[in-house]
Amino acid sequence: MNLREKLEELKERGLKEINQAQDLKSVNDIRVTLLGKKGPITEVLRGMRDLSAEERPKVGSFANAIKNELAKTIAAKVDELEVERMAKKLEAETIDVTLPGVPVKEGQPHVLMQVIDEIEKLFLGMGFQVVDGPEIEEDHYNFEMLNLPQDHPARDMQDTFYINKRLLMRTQTSPVQARTMEKHDFSKGPLKMISPGKVYRRDTDDATHSHQFHQVEGLVIDKNITMADLKGTLALVAKTIFGENREIRLRPSYFPFTEPSVEVDVSCFKCGGQGCSVCKQSGWIEVLGAGMVHPNVLTMAGIDPKVYGGFAFGLGPDRFAMLKYGVDDIREFYLNDVRFLSQFSKKG
Ligand code: PHE
Repeated sequence: MNLREKLEELKERGLKEINQAQDLKSVNDIRVTLLGKKGPITEVLRGMRDLSAEERPKVGSFANAIKNELAKTIAAKVDELEVERMAKKLEAETIDVTLPGVPVKEGQPHVLMQVIDEIEKLFLGMGFQVVDGPEIEEDHYNFEMLNLPQDHPARDMQDTFYINKRLLMRTQTSPVQARTMEKHDFSKGPLKMISPGKVYRRDTDDATHSHQFHQVEGLVIDKNITMADLKGTLALVAKTIFGENREIRLRPSYFPFTEPSVEVDVSCFKCGGQGCSVCKQSGWIEVLGAGMVHPNVLTMAGIDPKVYGGFAFGLGPDRFAMLKYGVDDIREFYLNDVRFLSQFSKKG
């Protein structure tokens, strides 16, 4: 057999193999064996040495033509197999878009967040800013700046988790008052803020106590602020959360950072003041602490108490939610039981 015949035969065999190939891998294998450096065509071409100078270029171009034809056939086969593979894949992955979807169960904000949201909305509407403060607080802000120096007996009521001598888990949101007062620029207008957040105390957990609970702090500082402003603001809070017909009542109390200080009661939303089990037959329910900001607190924050004054209050959303929804155990709010929490869906 001469070289031409050998090449012809290799071509025929190659084309047959390519056409019979079933997948991309076999086509690739054929390509490597047939056209590779150690393949039969290269081998044949090596024999060209023995040809005459006249024959050599003819056989050479014949060999190249065969190589090209094989390469083209391989490329076409690869395309064909690719198309086939894609078609198969598309068929296998077909989805029926008319099938009904899997229903997604929609949640809702935690009931405490719902109460806080309602309070925030009310105060934002009155031009208050909502301020955040750190939960890991300095003794300086949690106590000192609120007129509770070291060894002040009122510290006992708010024992907490100390991280070190300087840092503690804040026992109240009141430190945000001090932080905000220090920074406030009165040339830009009065200070009106609320600050919702978590607070911590070394309490033994029971139905009405939790080592972690929430507060919303409120603070207004300006010229000529009176207790009437405090009472009007808190009456609005009571009506917003507990209903249009609620009244409030102020009773004298004590906080180191307010003077005078008051406990605020709201008329019972259950019996309207007649007396029932919710209000323990008194007609009133205690809901928050408040007062006029103590001059010492203003002075420490760099505000002149002869020019400026104001009121502050601290309310407990946990207690608000318990009263509003008749929840008798504060711990329910922190157990993350969806059966409990889903009862407070905003959509009803
Ligand atoms: N921080 C007080 C408490 O936790 C509540 C309070 C806030 C009272 C602001 C007066 C003014 O008991």
